[in-house]
Amino acid sequence: MNKIAIFASGNGSNYQAIVDAVKNGALDASIELLVCDKPNAFVIERAKKESTPIFAFEPKTYETKAAFEKEIVLELQKREIELIVLAGYMRLIGPTLLHAFSKRIINIHPSLLPSFPGKNAIGQALQAGVKVTGVTVHFVDEGMDTGPIIAQESLKVEESDTEQSLAEKVHTIEHRLYPETIQLLFQKSFLWEKEEASR
Ligand code: GAR
Repeated sequence: MNKIAIFASGNGSNYQAIVDAVKNGALDASIELLVCDKPNAFVIERAKKESTPIFAFEPKTYETKAAFEKEIVLELQKREIELIVLAGYMRLIGPTLLHAFSKRIINIHPSLLPSFPGKNAIGQALQAGVKVTGVTVHFVDEGMDTGPIIAQESLKVEESDTEQSLAEKVHTIEHRLYPETIQLLFQKSFLWEKEEASR
């Protein structure tokens, strides 16, 4: 039944929005695991409160990215995860995870990609003086915030906007757009499976 794992590194407001969408019936999915690379992150507290199983790890205690990703893959396979949802997971996904979950990893990013990839996208947009920015949901590939775009929503940047006010607007969009997009992917039994079937 639409089993997902959420990966996060920080506050976890998007994790919470997805949990809430499942609880109120807007999203037909089961959150089977939270994967977190920062054992002190607030998202861990949220997951404990919601009784989501947690796999938290310290990357620097492993010799390589492949080593911790192998452990993550085992955890995901054990739980028959169908979709990996990156929600503020501030780490590039390596070949071990990418190959095991090919076309089954999505990410949300606080800009209209391909503009402003990487860290502090909201600050980057403000600095650049753009009049419009937004949110992007996309499939993950080996790049930094690259990969085919699934959904985008724009918002106007006002003269009076600060990084904080803009972040609030971005988060409001994210918290609605991400659960909606996940639901759409499941309803369409994943776009890429349809494409493959029609070949
Ligand atoms: C979100 O705004 C998300 O778009 C961003 O991190 C934030 C996490 O917030 N992700 C990236 O910048 C990915 N490159 P949250 O922890 O409150 O969900």
